[in-house]
Amino acid sequence: MSELVKYSTRDGVAIITVDNPPVNALSTGVPAGILAALKTAEADATVQAVVLAAAGKTFIAGADINDFLNVVAGKAELPVLHPLLHALEDSRKPVVAAIHGMALGGGMEVAMACHYRVAVPDAQVGQPECKLGLIPGAGGTQRLPRLIGPLKAAELCAMGDPIPAPEAVQLGAVDQIIQGNLVDGAVAFAKSIANRPAHKTRELTAKLAGNHSAGFAALREQVRKAKRNLNAPQVAIDAVELSTTLSFAKGIEKEAELFKQCLRATEAQALIHAFFGDRTVAKIPDVPKDTQAFPVRNIAIIGAGTMGGGIAMAFANVGIPVRIKDTQEALDRCLANARRNYENSVKRGRYTKEVMEQRMSLITPQTSYDGFDHVDMIIEAAYESMPLKRQIYSELDKIARVDCVLATNTSTLDINEIAVATGRPQMVIGLHFFSPANAMRLVEIVRGSATSKEVIATAMAVAKALKKVGVLVRNGFGFVGNRMMFPYMYEAQFVVEEGATPEEVDRALAHFGMAMGIFSVDDLGGLDVAARIREEQHQFDKPGLRKPLASDKLVALGRLGQKAGKGWYLYDENRKQTPDLEVVALIRKTAAEAHIPQRTFTEAEIIERTLYGLINEGARILEDGTALRAVDIDVIYLNGYGFPAYRGGPMFYADTVGLKKIYDKICEFREQHGARWEPAPLLKRLAEQGKTFASFDAEKAAHA
Ligand SMILES: NC(=O)c1ccc[n+]([C@@H]2O[C@H](COP(=O)([O-])OP(=O)(O)OC[C@H]3O[C@@H](n4cnc5c(N)ncnc54)[C@H](O)[C@@H]3O)[C@@H](O)[C@H]2O)c1
Repeated sequence: MSELVKYSTRDGVAIITVDNPPVNALSTGVPAGILAALKTAEADATVQAVVLAAAGKTFIAGADINDFLNVVAGKAELPVLHPLLHALEDSRKPVVAAIHGMALGGGMEVAMACHYRVAVPDAQVGQPECKLGLIPGAGGTQRLPRLIGPLKAAELCAMGDPIPAPEAVQLGAVDQIIQGNLVDGAVAFAKSIANRPAHKTRELTAKLAGNHSAGFAALREQVRKAKRNLNAPQVAIDAVELSTTLSFAKGIEKEAELFKQCLRATEAQALIHAFFGDRTVAKIPDVPKDTQAFPVRNIAIIGAGTMGGGIAMAFANVGIPVRIKDTQEALDRCLANARRNYENSVKRGRYTKEVMEQRMSLITPQTSYDGFDHVDMIIEAAYESMPLKRQIYSELDKIARVDCVLATNTSTLDINEIAVATGRPQMVIGLHFFSPANAMRLVEIVRGSATSKEVIATAMAVAKALKKVGVLVRNGFGFVGNRMMFPYMYEAQFVVEEGATPEEVDRALAHFGMAMGIFSVDDLGGLDVAARIREEQHQFDKPGLRKPLASDKLVALGRLGQKAGKGWYLYDENRKQTPDLEVVALIRKTAAEAHIPQRTFTEAEIIERTLYGLINEGARILEDGTALRAVDIDVIYLNGYGFPAYRGGPMFYADTVGLKKIYDKICEFREQHGARWEPAPLLKRLAEQGKTFASFDAEKAAHA
C-alpha cells in the first residue's frame, strides 16, 4: 500500500488506516491510497467487511487547504473525491468508518459515504467549510440531509460548528459509540453487520420527505443574524435545500458549481488568508524555528488589576501555576473577579466545578516577592508609569534568576527604557495582552533593541501554550495595533464634528463588520485614558494640525465612558448603550464655535475617512519594519481589534479594494483636509506599480 494509507486484516475484517500526520488531511495520495486498499479488500475472499480508520490523534480532519489555494492560483485542478466516495458506497462489503478526534469537512464526507459510522465518545463530526467561506464540496450537502434530515443538515453546514459524537448518534449521523479501543470495537461492529445488506447513504430518502420551506426560510433568517454579512452559510443552506428537490446526481453537480463560486469569492480568499495568517506570523526570519526557548513551567505577575488578573487566569487555564503580587485589597478583588468569571463558565456548562477549583488553586496571591526567585517568567502589569516600571524592574533585577524572562504588559511605554533599568536588557520583552486577557486571543510580542532571540522564541512559545496568537512587533509608540487606531479614532471624531453622529459612524462600521464601533471602543477604554495619551504624546502640538475638540469637552463633563455610565453614549446598570442627544448637541455647538462646515455623510464616506487612515498608517508600519509583514498587521487586527475575518484584515481588505483607488482617495483627502492625510510612501509606490501589500510580503519572503 502507500505510505499514507496502511492496510491489514483481522478476523475477516480489512482495516484501512489513513496515516497522514498531523491531521490526516485528504492530501494528494490519500484518496488514491484508500481506493487501492478498498480494491484489495474487495478482492480478498477472506474479508467480509472493512473498517476505515485513521492513525494519530484524529480521523480525517478535512481537505488540504493548500489544494484550494492552488486551484485559485490556477496551478491545479480541484481534487474530486466523488470516485472514492462512490466506490466506498458501492462496495459489496460493508464499510465502517471508525472515528476518533475529528471527522470534519472532507473527512465527514468520506465517513458519510461509508455504510456505517462508529465513534469514540469524545469524537466530533461536522461540516465547518463555511468558516473558510466555502460549502461542503464532496457531497456533504447531499448526504448529510439524507442521514439527519434537511433542516438539521442545513443548520450544521451553515453554522459550521462540529457536534459531539453522542449528539451525532441521536441525529443519525453516527450509528454507535464505541467505549474502549476504537479499532477493536469497530472490527467487532463490522463483524456483527457483515452479513446484513448495507445501505448506500446517497439512496436514502426517508428523511427528505415533507415540506421544509418554512423551516428553511426561518433558518436563513437566523443564519443571516448569526453570520452577519456572510454569503457562504446562505449558499450552504441553498445547497442542502436542493437535496429535497433534485436527484443525488444532480444535487452533487449543483453543489460543485456552488462550491467553485464560493472558492473564487473574496469571502473565501479572506478567510483562508486569515487561517494561514496564524501560521505565517510564527515565522520570524532572524529567529529560526530551532532557536532554544527557555522552558516556562511557572510564572509570576506584578499587579493584580484588570490586566494582571486576566493574565493570571489565562495561565491557570492551561495549567501553568501563577504567583501574583499586589496589595491585599487588589488581590482580594482580583481573586473574587476570577472566581466570578469561572463560576459563570461553570453555569454555562463549559467545564465542571472541579476544573474551576483546580484553576483557582493554581493562582497564588501574595503581597511580597516571595518565590519570585524561582519562577521562569515574570510579567509586570502595574500602572502605566515609566518611573514605577523602572523601579519595579530594578527590584526584579535583584530577585529574578538570570534565565528568568522579564516581560512587561505596557501598552505605550518604551521597552528599551524599561529594559535598561535592569543589568540584563536581553531578557526583557513586551507581552502586550488585550483586555480581557483571559479571553482575547492576541498578544503583541514587542522586541526591544537588546531582546535576545531565545527570549523572543520563549515569548512566542508562551503565546502558543496559552492558545493565543503571538505576533512579533518592534518597539515604538502604540506598537502596531494602537498606533493604527489613532488616525482611525481621530478621523471618526472629525467626521462627527463635520456633521455625522457617533451612532451613524458606529453603525457604518458595524455594517462594514467591525465587532464594535470606534466610539463604543473609546467609551470602553475610557475617554480620560485617550485624553492622557493625547496630552503625554503631544499628538496635536504641531502647528496647523487639526485637533479633535469634542472629546476634551466630554472629559471635562465627567463623561469618561462606560465606567462613568456616560461617554459618547449613555449606559444603564447593565452596560446597555443608548445614543445621547446631549452629546450630539454638544458636538454641534463645538463645531459651530469652531466654524466647522456641516454636512451629511454616506456610510461609504465614513468607511473611507476612518479605515483609509488606519490603512495608511499600516503602510507606514510595514515600511518602517514595526510589523514584519502585511499579514502580521492583519492577524493583529483580526484577533485584537474586531476586524471582520471575512475581510481578511485591513491590509488584505486594502488589496481587495485596490491600492490605487485607496491612494487616489487619500490624495483627495489631503487636498481637502491637509497634511495629516499625506499618503504613506510605500502605499504610493505600490499603488503606482499596480502592486498589492500581499506582493510586498511575497517579495520580502523571497529575499529572506
Ligand atoms: N486595561 C487595558 O485594557 C490594558 C490593555 C493592555 C495593556 N495594558 C497595560 O497593562 C498595565 C496594567 O494595566 P491595568 O489596566 O491592569 O491597570 P490597573 O490599574 O487595573 O492595575 C494595576 C495594578 O498594579 C498594581 N501595582 C502598582 N504598583 C505595583 C507594585 N509595585 N507591585 C505590585 N502591584 C502594583 C496596582 O495596585 C493595581 O492593582 C499597564 O501598563 C497598561 O498600560 C492595559
